Amino acid sequence: MSTPAPTFLSGIQPSGRPHLGNYFGAIRQHVDSLEEPGEHLFFIADYHALTTVKDADTLRNNVRDLAATYFALGMDPERAMFFRQSDVPEVTEIAWLLATVTGMGLLERAHSYKDKVANGIKPSVGLFTYPILMAADILAYDSTIVPVGKDQVQHVEMTQDMATHFNSRHGEVFTRPEARLPERSDMAKVPGLDGQKMSKSYGNDLWVFEEGKALKKAIGRIPTDSREPSEPKDPSEIQLFDFLALLLEDQELQEWKDRVEAGGEGAPGYGHLKVRLAEAFDDHFGPARARYKELMADPAELDRVLLRGAEKARERAVAVRDRALQACGLR
Ligand code: TYM
Repeated sequence: MSTPAPTFLSGIQPSGRPHLGNYFGAIRQHVDSLEEPGEHLFFIADYHALTTVKDADTLRNNVRDLAATYFALGMDPERAMFFRQSDVPEVTEIAWLLATVTGMGLLERAHSYKDKVANGIKPSVGLFTYPILMAADILAYDSTIVPVGKDQVQHVEMTQDMATHFNSRHGEVFTRPEARLPERSDMAKVPGLDGQKMSKSYGNDLWVFEEGKALKKAIGRIPTDSREPSEPKDPSEIQLFDFLALLLEDQELQEWKDRVEAGGEGAPGYGHLKVRLAEAFDDHFGPARARYKELMADPAELDRVLLRGAEKARERAVAVRDRALQACGLR
């Protein structure tokens, strides 16, 4: 028997401008997955973003910004269902059903919740039950592969647990998904400008479409020390190389590392590395940045594309929701 084609699904919160971590950990994987057979669903997690974004206009703008960013970076809404989470309200119903089979202990173990609270985000009930809504997102479409960065793997594992608990109580309703990480571990967990994980909530992120002076300033924040260029250095101790590794071809990266390691007359200083990093960033994101600006000039079209994606996605979610309601005796 042939195995059925996979269903890819993932989401990103519109909680600020998408950064290098979102790109390498998620967006790029999502765009690349379009080359694989199967169905593809990607969405903007605006219900989730309500746990941190409190202003309505900001949230609406962030949604359009994220849609334009995705399309500029290669997401094709003709090949994927690309939509806004809140246009498929069935996920909130499924979330309730899952909440009834989810132990407090499971949620209490969530790293992401603990991190957010430690970083000063007010611990609302919504923030605490966030993984249940995420599980509903995944299970609502019978997804099988969830491409995410490392920080979301625990949430996908929690989703597996919730599906198992629900199915063992009510029968085989939900499909158990698997997380998929980028192959390179430095892309699965991109460091921030200060060396911790890059995150909007840590304020150490670099927007993918940053340019000009703001880009130079951000790159300027990457910590260095006061050693002279001529002093031989171990490249693995230099944080700038973490970023160069994401953007340069292997051969060029190796040449820079060799020169830094050798030291001596003509060895590059941190300033040189920063200039090269800004150039490589521009080369990588410049063309998409131009498309992004064009797309942002027509917000009504962005809204239309999102709604079209939601119509198709919703049909699937309604079928799964009905199956789940039936199984627990609510229909
Ligand atoms: P969010 O919005 O925090 O992040 C979106 C995606 O970006 C990845 N990511 C990173 N990857 C590598 N290095 C980093 N520094 C980095 N920072 C973020 C995340 O792993 C994620 O893949 N709960 C989710 C949104 C969501 C979702 C879902 C995801 C809601 N429902 C269903 C998958 C399936 C979140 O907050 O992601």
